[in-house]
Amino acid sequence: MNTLLKFATCGSVDDGKSTMIGRMLFDAKLLFTDQERTLLLEGRRESGEIDYSLLLDGLMAEREQRITIDVAYRYFTTKRRSFIVADAPGHEEYTRNMAVAASFADLAVILVDVTRGAAIQTRRHLRICAMMGIEHFVFAVNKMDLLHYDQRRFEKVERELMRMAAEYEIRSLRIIPMSATEGDNVTRRSERMPWYVGPSLLEHLEEVDARRADAEEGFVLPVQRVCRPNRNFRGFQGQIEAGSVAVGDELTALPSGERARVARILNAGAEAERAEAGCAVTVALDGEIDVSRGCALVRGARAEAADLFSAQILWMDDARLVEGKSYILKLGTKSVPAAVVRIRCKIDVNTGDEVPADAVYKNEMAICEISTSEKIALSRFRDHRALGALILIDRLTNMTAGGGVVLQVLRRSRNLFRQDMAVTREFRARQKGQEPRTVWLTGLSGAGKSAIANELEKRLAAMGRHTMLLDGDNVRLGLNRNLGFEEADRIENIRRIAEVAKLMNDAGLIAIVACISPYRQDRQNAREIIGADSFVEVYVSTPLEECERRDAKGLYVRARSGEIPNFTGISSPYEPPRAPAVALDTSRVPLADCVEAVLRALREREA
Ligand code: ADX
Repeated sequence: MNTLLKFATCGSVDDGKSTMIGRMLFDAKLLFTDQERTLLLEGRRESGEIDYSLLLDGLMAEREQRITIDVAYRYFTTKRRSFIVADAPGHEEYTRNMAVAASFADLAVILVDVTRGAAIQTRRHLRICAMMGIEHFVFAVNKMDLLHYDQRRFEKVERELMRMAAEYEIRSLRIIPMSATEGDNVTRRSERMPWYVGPSLLEHLEEVDARRADAEEGFVLPVQRVCRPNRNFRGFQGQIEAGSVAVGDELTALPSGERARVARILNAGAEAERAEAGCAVTVALDGEIDVSRGCALVRGARAEAADLFSAQILWMDDARLVEGKSYILKLGTKSVPAAVVRIRCKIDVNTGDEVPADAVYKNEMAICEISTSEKIALSRFRDHRALGALILIDRLTNMTAGGGVVLQVLRRSRNLFRQDMAVTREFRARQKGQEPRTVWLTGLSGAGKSAIANELEKRLAAMGRHTMLLDGDNVRLGLNRNLGFEEADRIENIRRIAEVAKLMNDAGLIAIVACISPYRQDRQNAREIIGADSFVEVYVSTPLEECERRDAKGLYVRARSGEIPNFTGISSPYEPPRAPAVALDTSRVPLADCVEAVLRALREREA
């Protein structure tokens, strides 16, 4: 069986993982001689023997701290099989890499220190691997030499591991007593543990059938690129993730749901009749349908178009997961703004219990509901890995903040359809003889937003315009009375105000919004909800000192004394707009001129 086995290794810092891998490479005679000599020279342990862990990364950090700091991929071959091993680091800090390694592998080797038994870390590793779809496991119960190869102590740990593993849908499980430093049961069966009758680790890896239980049903091609070399040819490129496709097959495009037949297939540049999973292809269809990068072409697959789903996620960011905050979701070949709209529960890594939670911190797992800004091609992870594995990226830092898998597409999204209205937004706008806009005034409390908003509305009304003013304080007394001033509440406050402003615009009105809206990202969301063409951002830039001097509502005094927590400008940040349509400092510019400047900006848009 000379198939390729992709496996991941997981273990805590001192479990002996690097030594085990080093031993496998060394004993399998996979080293070049000079590499061997280097090892001998550099790696003398106190006892004067080779330190196999030095075989691994040449990374200084690892040598100095004895911690592997990134996922390392190594290739090796024996007479019977080829291997790629993704080495996931054992340090608690690096759960992120562990998840990356697991997502790549078909099998996981989890190191267990027999002197410590099944540790929390072991449970965490098992849970993350299982979440990422691994169905084949090996527990390498290491350091048997320290217990004089005691069968009873091994069996005790073995029982713990069996109990732990019983929670998961595991297709193959091997528990191997081992000493990586002494070489027992790593590549060769050990004579020091005659009571163990199973294979060595390497023997097992050479033999194990690590295919997945359920072959994915149907055909899935996430579209990576649309290629249009000339007018007559429009091809969709990507890697076939499941099934096969033949010329003449009818495919459905997701999310549009439109169908067309396959006219041509190019496989590695050559014309082909059919192509299978794993091939990078270009597919041309016989009809013009709506397909772009990030769409999927499917046939008989368990995939659909949706914008709301539940997911199990692993949070990896230093900053906690905030409900309602906008992240970039990457799923398949699609990147789209998305928010976690509800945290259902956290999962206790130890017990697997679901515990109530409203925040999720680094290295924690949770089940949550995610909503995307538009419908995308989706599947449950168990049906299709490619359309069910996701990562969430922080929009400011561009770092992967979380990763996980789709559990369920939610009905709510499936059963909601946007209804076409006979009287349209355009009709209502024409009837009122105006272009609907949202003037969005942002700035500190006391900056003069409400004053400008009021005056602006009076002027517009005098000009015969139809308007509506949404003032932060007023909306908070009604629609948003259940919201406070913590980050998540402010996000929701702004989202609702933006949705209402959009409805006002749909009604044909000019909406004027006056609210602090301190976060840049939230205003960006508001812009996306309302539509960039209709959104006019006005920054009321009056400096903090002036706002505080005015202190019309007496709030700054109370905020300074600590009586009001999270007060914008004092104990909570304000992020000024980078490119507002207008910026107005009411401490320098008279009110009438401020209003005039906004009117000018509105007129410019009409031209
Ligand atoms: S926003 O930050 O969520 O956009 P919004 O404009 O709706 O704020 O409401 C701000 C008003 O709430 C302020 O004008 C002030 O009267 C009042 N307020 C009460 N507590 C706070 C606070 N911690 N931070 C800012 N404003 C507060």
